[in-house]
Amino acid sequence: MKEEISVLIDSAKVDNRIADLGDEISRDYAGKSIHMVGILKGSVIFMAELAKHLTVPVTFDFMSVSSYGNETESSGVVKIIKDLDEPLAGRDVLVVEDIVDTGRTLSYLLNILGERGASSIKLCTLLDKPERRVTDVTADYCGFEIPDEFIVGYGLDYAQKYRNLPYIGVMKFEEEDS
Ligand code: IMP
Ligand code: MG
Repeated sequence: MKEEISVLIDSAKVDNRIADLGDEISRDYAGKSIHMVGILKGSVIFMAELAKHLTVPVTFDFMSVSSYGNETESSGVVKIIKDLDEPLAGRDVLVVEDIVDTGRTLSYLLNILGERGASSIKLCTLLDKPERRVTDVTADYCGFEIPDEFIVGYGLDYAQKYRNLPYIGVMKFEEEDS
């Protein structure tokens, strides 16, 4: 199988949108601090770029989860591979994700995080595939709503590859000519 990637959203457009999101979030959190919780590994590039546009005080923490399921569908049963380093009590938490697909992973995760005494928890995702949703997860902040395609780039991977692409691409799998 040949892996072909076509540009869905170019890097200038992504960067501009993240700058706008940063302005919006900074306004909403005026007078507060934001405790950003990134879900590894997909959120890393988005989180770094977004953080650069926040004008309120920011702290970082990361969590790594694996979702049981098959290759293309998560089951919603989530195993915590790496938990947060610090407690959430009294903090204004902004969970940062690369993409909300079925929403199963985040639904489970937000339930767990919701029991840790944060002052507030909001969700910010770079991408949202609303057509695919099977839970009631909604993002408070979203970069782009996209159609049901397999996305790579800007943190998102296929078999751990392509996370470093500076644009959002659609992955097409093509039969190799013999
Ligand atoms: P959910 O539990 O179905 O919402 O799965 C969310 C996770 O699946 C995301 O955090 C991604 O890691 C992964 N995922 C979903 N859609 C894509 C995609 O189009 N490209 C790459 N990873 C994806
Ligand atoms: Mg992810």
